[in-house]
Amino acid sequence: MAKLNVNGAVRDFEAEQDTPLLWVLREQLGLTGTKYGCGIAACGACTVHINGVPTRSCVRPVSTVGAAEKIVTIEGLSPDGSHPVQKAWAQLDVPQCGYCQCGMIMTAVALLRDKPNPSDADINEAMTNICRCGTYNRIRAAIKVVARGGNTKSAALAIQHADGSTT
Ligand code: FES
Ligand code: FES
Repeated sequence: MAKLNVNGAVRDFEAEQDTPLLWVLREQLGLTGTKYGCGIAACGACTVHINGVPTRSCVRPVSTVGAAEKIVTIEGLSPDGSHPVQKAWAQLDVPQCGYCQCGMIMTAVALLRDKPNPSDADINEAMTNICRCGTYNRIRAAIKVVARGGNTKSAALAIQHADGSTT
């Protein structure tokens, strides 16, 4: 049995050396929030944090992740979706199909930790994940809402919601 430190707990798993971390997380540990999109490190759907670094787990052999390295998946951000980035995503109705969004959120969390008030250029540089639904504008807006302490009014973003209300 090999071990991984995931979301604050030591977990056992068995896998071939070259098995991507993504498949251990999803299939052995049941952490299915992390998604498979491309398998070639291009889309970011599989992004998790390893020691705080956003990492595309589809191309990371599990054997290269040390037992002491701290992995955080979307399930480990908060017990109830109350992380400020998750809350901003919900406030602004960011997801459409949702498939890419866990990876987007994990990437945004790392960006906002390192740059609490990111510029558009900072966001462009960090948010290289792909969304086939085209939610990029709302992702940018949600990141700015987090940077403004979660206050959508002060952000003056003029986001129109499905119920006709605006933020
Ligand atoms: S599935 Fe890993 S980057 Fe696309
Ligand atoms: S919300 Fe559908 S792929 Fe991004």
